[in-house]
Amino acid sequence: METIILFDTRYGTTNKVSNIIAEKLTTYGCNCKVANINENQNLELDKYDRIIIGGPIYAGNFQKNMKKFLEKNLSILKEKEISLFICFMNEEKQIEQFNNAFPNELAVNCKTKGFLGGEFLFDKMGFFDKSIVRIITKSNKNQTNIKNESIEEFVMDILK
Ligand SMILES: Cc1cc2nc3c(=O)[nH]c(=O)nc-3n(C[C@H](O)[C@H](O)[C@H](O)COP(=O)(O)O)c2cc1C
Repeated sequence: METIILFDTRYGTTNKVSNIIAEKLTTYGCNCKVANINENQNLELDKYDRIIIGGPIYAGNFQKNMKKFLEKNLSILKEKEISLFICFMNEEKQIEQFNNAFPNELAVNCKTKGFLGGEFLFDKMGFFDKSIVRIITKSNKNQTNIKNESIEEFVMDILK
């Protein structure tokens, strides 16, 4: 099955997670491409049977570019086998944030939902983001909470 993982990212974590998913799918014999929605204007979604979409949560939702991308491509995406994931750090709100992020029409028909964790990477953050995260977490240390088990389960569900 021709597969593409489409992602958005600010500091690279969702790119990293997308690559882990792609590596695992490739190990299982799947032909899998990874693409940043901001760097690829002609994605030719028609070519793919299986589409995996993921993005990071900021202030409870996806960033504008991913929202626009999903809105613009909703009708073609609805014709595909779709799996969806978020990268995030607030576990208490993961379901609410997932539901805010993806259009309901996609979420109700998707094959698999992934809650794949995230990171706070202070070294990469700009001044504004650093200040916000420092206030929220009361720390300025990098934190990694990428959920490898959830990634494995997500991939297995996709292949079912
Ligand atoms: C300014 C800022 C706001 C954030 N807001 C949220 C949030 O509302 N909920 C949440 O679960 N995670 C939040 N996060 C955590 C990000 O989702 C997490 O850092 C993610 O791994 C970022 O992925 P990226 O590097 O692909 O952009 C926030 C992070 C930053 C820096």
